[in-house]
Amino acid sequence: MNDLLLRALRGEEVERPPVWMMRQAGRTLPEYRAVRAEAGGFKDLLMNPNRAAEVTIQPIEAYGVDAAILFSDILVVPEAMGLPYNLVEKVGPRFPETIRSLADLNRLHEVDPGRDLKYVIDAIEVTLKELQGRVPLIGFAGAPWTLFCYMVEGKGSKDWTLARRMLWEEPALSDALLTAITKATKAYLHAQIEAGVHVVQLFDSWAGSLSRELYVQRILPHMQDLVEGLRGRVPLTVFAKGGSHFLKDLATLPCTALGLDWQTNRQWARRLADEAPGGPKLLQGNLDPSTLYANPGIIRAETHRMIDELGIQRTIANLGHGLYPDIPADHGRAFVQAVKEYTPATERETTTSV
Ligand code: CP3
Repeated sequence: MNDLLLRALRGEEVERPPVWMMRQAGRTLPEYRAVRAEAGGFKDLLMNPNRAAEVTIQPIEAYGVDAAILFSDILVVPEAMGLPYNLVEKVGPRFPETIRSLADLNRLHEVDPGRDLKYVIDAIEVTLKELQGRVPLIGFAGAPWTLFCYMVEGKGSKDWTLARRMLWEEPALSDALLTAITKATKAYLHAQIEAGVHVVQLFDSWAGSLSRELYVQRILPHMQDLVEGLRGRVPLTVFAKGGSHFLKDLATLPCTALGLDWQTNRQWARRLADEAPGGPKLLQGNLDPSTLYANPGIIRAETHRMIDELGIQRTIANLGHGLYPDIPADHGRAFVQAVKEYTPATERETTTSV
């Protein structure tokens, strides 16, 4: 197996950083769009283990990445708890019902992943069989705050005002909802690990909507509970988009790696990750995905600069958020190729001056 990612996550010295891209399985690939059309829609695709496995594997060949990430969505957990969602084309996720009161919360139920999320577990099994050990498989879930946002608001939002308002107006209700989400997510990730995923990532996509104080006081304890409950099983990455103002606090979590968005200063984050209380952490990131609209020469130079700044060791090369749907597949390949061909800046300068 190409175990570069796993070696890096174990803290071993590596020849170059492993590379994968958030949202690598998706609309940038024509072969994804074809399978999606055959399946009917997005949910039909992710609930069909054979098709989900197929689109999980596509980016390995299409981009040459060092890892597969399971094709699924973070919203499967709210649905398993009793809050169904739809993905409306060109609009985004919609939940017909939301959680605004204790009565709403009481309608949710505990999640048994083997029953409520069996299609994900089946997709992992099919994927692992078809991957034939080529690259590791990354499992994932939404972090408690990000799922809370969707469950309260019922759809995407710029500032998540209703969700933030609930934290202040209904602290006990908010905490009970976060506790229920955390419990379901923990069971779900344990089930993914049982099924064989090699690494897991928590996506806290809307971390940036909260102040440091609020995140630390009200959200971090749930993150701690979740990450602690998974400690010692497989390497775990926490990606809190927009959360660099509390990266130091996130670094106290017993996770293996921290994901960085593209706004985060790399050298600063490196120092912080090196000094993390439980020992040094890996950093994953963080090229601005919009860089991939540039020509391949620029993509290459920017990718090399990213690795100059993050370093080769304890780095997982990635974007600072997911690939945008209209980024040409060739440009995704240029990014991956640039990581594979990386040589340190000093050697690059020598080569060009000869
Ligand atoms: O390749 C991969 O990264 C694996 C698959 C994956 C998807 N969603 C597939 C998907 C992963 C890891 C996710 C996570 C996810 N889903 C997040 C966290 C990461 C992030 O982007 O911050 C969030 C917030 C969601 C919720 C979600 N799902 C939204 C807001 C949308 C609609 C917006 C959009 O991009 O269209 C989705 C749908 C979705 N999830 C698609 C894909 C490929 C697009 C569906 C399609 O049109 O085919």
